[in-house]
Amino acid sequence: MNSLVVPKGLEGVIVDRTEISTTDQSGNLLYRGYRVVDLVEKLDFESVALLVLTGKIPDPEARSRFSDLLKTNSVIEGKVREIIRVLREPNIMNNLRSIVSLYPYKNRKNLDLLIEIASKFPSIIFYSDVAIRGWRDIEETGGTYAERLYRILTGRDDRENSKFFEKLLIMYMEHEFNSSTFALRVTASTLADPVCGITSALSALKGPLHGGANSEVLDYLLKFKSEDEAIRFIENKLSRKEKIMGFGHRVYKVKDPRAQYIKSQLKKLHGYDSVMKYAESIESYMWQERHIPVNLDFYGALYMNALGIEERFFLPVFASARVFGWSAHYIEQVSSNKIIRPQAQYVGPVGLKL
Ligand code: CMC
Repeated sequence: MNSLVVPKGLEGVIVDRTEISTTDQSGNLLYRGYRVVDLVEKLDFESVALLVLTGKIPDPEARSRFSDLLKTNSVIEGKVREIIRVLREPNIMNNLRSIVSLYPYKNRKNLDLLIEIASKFPSIIFYSDVAIRGWRDIEETGGTYAERLYRILTGRDDRENSKFFEKLLIMYMEHEFNSSTFALRVTASTLADPVCGITSALSALKGPLHGGANSEVLDYLLKFKSEDEAIRFIENKLSRKEKIMGFGHRVYKVKDPRAQYIKSQLKKLHGYDSVMKYAESIESYMWQERHIPVNLDFYGALYMNALGIEERFFLPVFASARVFGWSAHYIEQVSSNKIIRPQAQYVGPVGLKL
């Protein structure tokens, strides 16, 4: 029994097959076989979401029907708005998790229900924020998914910035068997309904080692006054064996292609300022001294900051994009299901007497 190899954190373990996404041998992230860096340049969020969900790039008619569906379904009922108002929960992720869990399964087609839930994320975020900070007069249903969410987050109707924002949403949309997706797949494998699946995924996403990392990046990055100070801060943390948020990845041991792409867009969006200089110094230091690459959450945080999005929204943005990837995984899991039930090596006592 002691000679068993136990892959902690399932590192290196292939647990199932998927047709949704992967990282190829050159380190490119592929959605349904297409490089994400190509998709993001040529297609909008709605088209990429449909591709991820169905495996096909939609024709203009299918894309437009899907876009209409996202708009019509985005409205949340008065009683749900009232629950959000009464809850007055300051953490938007807690609200997303609680409110999604209220949606009735009602024996509907899985894909229909998943799309309905996903399309409500922007409005749940809006009313959660309103419950704490008061009413803001914002048209919460019109425009594309990215425009709608951007307007809700910043109060601004800004086509150009919404286009930049859309690129980040596409980058965040899907990533194979990451922790939140795996949590959803475990739940789906018991044949629990899609609402349970998305609720599990939202819970797993919240942790700082997964989605919660992006909101912690700005906390340290914006306080530096010099490059020296930035590097000293990182050295001190590393000497205390603390993790640097925005670095490291289970899959990308050399470079995260999403981080590289968003960094290049960030330079177009914001130019090069002192914060960018500190960010690049930390990136070089982490790579040269520790061989730990930067991940999407690091430049993603700076990117959202440059777009005028406040930190409390960072993780909800991640969730609003990833919910489409989760939905694809729910469908894939139940369509060729086997319950996910691993085993553990028992290392506790045996034969104790009462
Ligand atoms: N800061 C300092 N050391 C690190 C970091 C980091 N951010 N990431 C990895 N390491 C070290 C780690 O301590 C370990 O060193 P040693 O072998 O000496 O013990 C080595 O690198 C291997 O790391 P690991 O923790 O075994 O790698 P993992 O695959 O188990 O964990 C991770 C991956 C993302 C949880 C981890 O890198 C981490 O905690 N990063 C910080 C949180 C973060 O930015 N998360 C967002 C990930 S990207 C978005 C997403 O997909 O969620």
